[in-house]
Amino acid sequence: MTDTQQQIVLASRPSSAPVDANFRLETVALSAVGQGEVLVRVQYLSLDPYMRGRMNDTKSYADPVPIGGVMEGMGVGEVIASNDPGFQPGDFAMGGFGWADHGCLPAKKLRKIDPALAPVQTSLGIIGLPGFTGWYGLTALGKPKAGETLVIGSATGAVGTLVGQWARLLGLRVVGVAGGAEKCAYAVEKLGFDACIDYRGKTAEALATELKVACPDGIDIYWENTGGPLTEAVIEQMNGFGRMILCGMIAWYNEKPKPDAENLLPKFWRNILVNRLSVQGFIISDHWDQLQSFVAEVAPRIAAGDITYRESITEGLETMPTAFMGMLEGKNFGKTLVKL
Ligand SMILES: NC(=O)c1ccc[n+]([C@@H]2O[C@H](COP(=O)([O-])OP(=O)(O)OC[C@H]3O[C@@H](n4cnc5c(N)ncnc54)[C@H](OP(=O)(O)O)[C@@H]3O)[C@@H](O)[C@H]2O)c1
Repeated sequence: MTDTQQQIVLASRPSSAPVDANFRLETVALSAVGQGEVLVRVQYLSLDPYMRGRMNDTKSYADPVPIGGVMEGMGVGEVIASNDPGFQPGDFAMGGFGWADHGCLPAKKLRKIDPALAPVQTSLGIIGLPGFTGWYGLTALGKPKAGETLVIGSATGAVGTLVGQWARLLGLRVVGVAGGAEKCAYAVEKLGFDACIDYRGKTAEALATELKVACPDGIDIYWENTGGPLTEAVIEQMNGFGRMILCGMIAWYNEKPKPDAENLLPKFWRNILVNRLSVQGFIISDHWDQLQSFVAEVAPRIAAGDITYRESITEGLETMPTAFMGMLEGKNFGKTLVKL
């Protein structure tokens, strides 16, 4: 067994899009396994858009990663030592190991993973945080009804994949919005969405025109993953008593909204008022108590082939920054993972 681990720390804070110099690869001594702790050799690390927020020193729902601190993140791997009766070497565990090839955590902060149920990395994707986010937000906040129309951006990403397919299973019309013809074709042909619009290079006006064709009965649920021109295109097409679920706004993670965005506020306020819209933001970590219900409901549908998914996997801890920067630009296709 090795006595060192490799990890990636935040070397400096990005001022807009992250660059290589914002990260540093380090080798440090492996932690001793304390009472009640478990040491895991990580096999897959998850890359998620929220990590961009952790790089900023601004007030948010979670603390920023300090300069010199290990980048935050979830991983899954094999237990190699345990001082807790709940875990044995050879078990698989998922937890917040950070961007590192090993992790030593208290057993109560780990979730045991059964590799016989599904490939272990799905605990970071379709049956992990992104899938759970989609299932919880849609069912608990979206209040979906068969026959309604749902629009979702980043439609072929980790969250979008689950939201759109679950909405289709519930009998909704699903219109995806994604970057490029290949992703749009996948959304319709493989994920079963009713339509998918390529948003790249289009203004809010152009997107609104395409949405009117794709959503002839208006929009009942808008799943907000992106912000950007899509949000503006959607607002005037929301139906009365529609629901807007604010999950993320990746188009703005690297930049502050442009000053002219302030001019949109009266338009948004007016539409929310006259259409009696519900606008609900949520953070999935407030709802971990419902994770088991999600897994019990969704995992069998994946096993039955009713829900499909796709993964973008690079190999080696050193690929984490590049893979992360690529995800922010849409270079991933499905759940972004790094295999160690
Ligand atoms: N509220 C919560 O608790 C919670 C939990 C998980 C995730 N989220 C949010 O959910 C959203 C999706 O997360 P994910 O993990 O599923 O990521 P993802 O969709 O798998 O990956 C990010 C995708 O964002 C799209 N994108 C990048 N820049 C964009 C832009 N300027 N305009 C529109 N789309 C852009 C790209 O897809 P295209 O190629 O299609 O552009 C890229 O592939 C993110 O906003 C994330 O922060 C929120």
